[in-house]
Amino acid sequence: MRAIACILLLGCRTPPSEREARATAEQIWNTRCVNCHGPSGRGDGPGARLLSVRPRDFSDPNWQSRVDDAHLARVIVEGGRPLGLDANMAANPDLGHQPEVVRHLVEMIRGR
Ligand code: HEC
Repeated sequence: MRAIACILLLGCRTPPSEREARATAEQIWNTRCVNCHGPSGRGDGPGARLLSVRPRDFSDPNWQSRVDDAHLARVIVEGGRPLGLDANMAANPDLGHQPEVVRHLVEMIRGR
């Protein structure tokens, strides 16, 4: 019965623990993001040189102070295009249902 209610209401998802969310975020970074953004987010992944707009160096403190966490989370889920950024920054719609994982990706980009 609970399972049916969960399917109908889509509201019974148990959030992952902090550790699980962090591990998932790291795995996503290493599989989906690293090719362009590079292992430590400096914009130096192997695929970056093929892009017309290069991903920025996330360690740049000026940029870090200009953007807020909500912006970073939106870019990750919705992709670059709706925010006026380059469309090669693809959307990750599946992460729209995993806010804890997105928060950890944001923390990684922040270097926290
Ligand atoms: C195909 C290459 C590619 C992949 C894969 C990719 N990105 Fe990006 N990303 C870009 C590019 C290019 C930009 C810069 C867009 C611009 O400045 O117009 C960008 C921008 C961003 C920004 C916004 C930076 C800003 O200036 O506001 C964030 C945050 C980001 N990416 C996170 C991620 C995360 C997290 C992943 C993995 C889930 C990821 N990206 C995967 C290419 C990529």
